[in-house]
Amino acid sequence: MKKIKAAVLGCTGLVGRQFVRLLDGHPYFELACLTASGRSAGKAFAAAIEDASAIGGRAAVPARAVSAPRAAAVAASGAAMAFSALPAALAAGLEPELREAGIAVFSNASAHRFDPRVPLLVPEVNAGHLDMAAGQGRGRGGFIVTNPNCVVAGLVVALKPLLALGLRAVTVTTFQAVSGAGRRGVAAWDILGNVVPHIAGEEEKIARETAKILGDLDGGGVRPSSLEIYPSCTRVPVRDGHLQSIGAEFDRAPDARKLVAALEGFRSLPQRLRLPTAPRRPLVVRAESDRPQPLLDALAGEPERARGMAVSVGRLRLRGRRCDFFLLAHNTLRGAAGGSLLNAELAVRRGLIPRSGA
Ligand SMILES: NC(=O)c1ccc[n+]([C@@H]2O[C@H](COP(=O)([O-])OP(=O)(O)OC[C@H]3O[C@@H](n4cnc5c(N)ncnc54)[C@H](OP(=O)(O)O)[C@@H]3O)[C@@H](O)[C@H]2O)c1
Repeated sequence: MKKIKAAVLGCTGLVGRQFVRLLDGHPYFELACLTASGRSAGKAFAAAIEDASAIGGRAAVPARAVSAPRAAAVAASGAAMAFSALPAALAAGLEPELREAGIAVFSNASAHRFDPRVPLLVPEVNAGHLDMAAGQGRGRGGFIVTNPNCVVAGLVVALKPLLALGLRAVTVTTFQAVSGAGRRGVAAWDILGNVVPHIAGEEEKIARETAKILGDLDGGGVRPSSLEIYPSCTRVPVRDGHLQSIGAEFDRAPDARKLVAALEGFRSLPQRLRLPTAPRRPLVVRAESDRPQPLLDALAGEPERARGMAVSVGRLRLRGRRCDFFLLAHNTLRGAAGGSLLNAELAVRRGLIPRSGA
């Protein structure tokens, strides 16, 4: 089958580089266009990122030219879809322009996550919300699908199987890696040997995005979930992988064996469809007393293409109606580029992006 041509917007950033790496040899998609800011436009990709090793040496694209992000240029490249790793302020205007040009946009930016027509998608959790994409582009075939904040992307995968056990409230304290703030995000001086107990806007995003993802489709929009969520966020001197300390409260005391079985046995539509970026086991339960750890577990997930897509859970402590545990997810993979790619793979399998159009 022909591959679908794809653009990567914001290709030089931490998320954009992951897209470029993951698209190399992808069974559904091929790279057609790379964009970044005026700092990078006109340069070859390898020169723009100043470090070809950052893409793992797998991508056969170091000589490809980077262009400025203009909808006309993206459309002229033949791209039928775009993976967006743009800053939110830029995504706010450009992503709808691309949609109007008939392009399917899979976005990591926060700009359109709460547009009532736009799905906020994590395929293991709310695959049905993809129905919202239909009709967005006024018949031209374009649409926007967003994926959530890098904390929420891992969190909802762990919460989904717990809902059936009567989950009613969640307290979450995060330990977030510096890569979550982007390439120029946090100065070394501010974070080395330090913990910063505030990330602007993050706690609000966690509560609101979790409610939309776990909500029900209702008359074309989403009725948010009533699950109570109490987030506190910190930035820590870790390179990749957001650790979260979770306190889950249930309506009734869950059975310990059933709780572990629900987490370990959790499989969903991406696993049944064998989507290329879907981890065979979305949740990996660690029995060791000191796991998960960012250094050891951020890249959990099999097969090779799904490394960094599994969410690791450990140190489960059940006391009556409350269960405490730790959770870890890779922020630029499950929390960004990998999550977006999984959304796009689902959209292809649902027939929303014709493969014959390549
Ligand atoms: N990092 C994460 O873990 C993570 C997780 C989930 C979601 N996100 C979201 O994903 C998006 C990208 O994040 P990131 O961490 O990859 O950021 P980043 O490392 O700062 O990269 C930003 C990208 O956008 C480009 N860009 C910046 N200003 C631009 C402009 N005025 N015009 C055109 N392109 C411009 C940059 O190009 P130059 O290199 O040429 O400046 C770069 O390619 C953000 O919306 C972020 O909130 C990030």
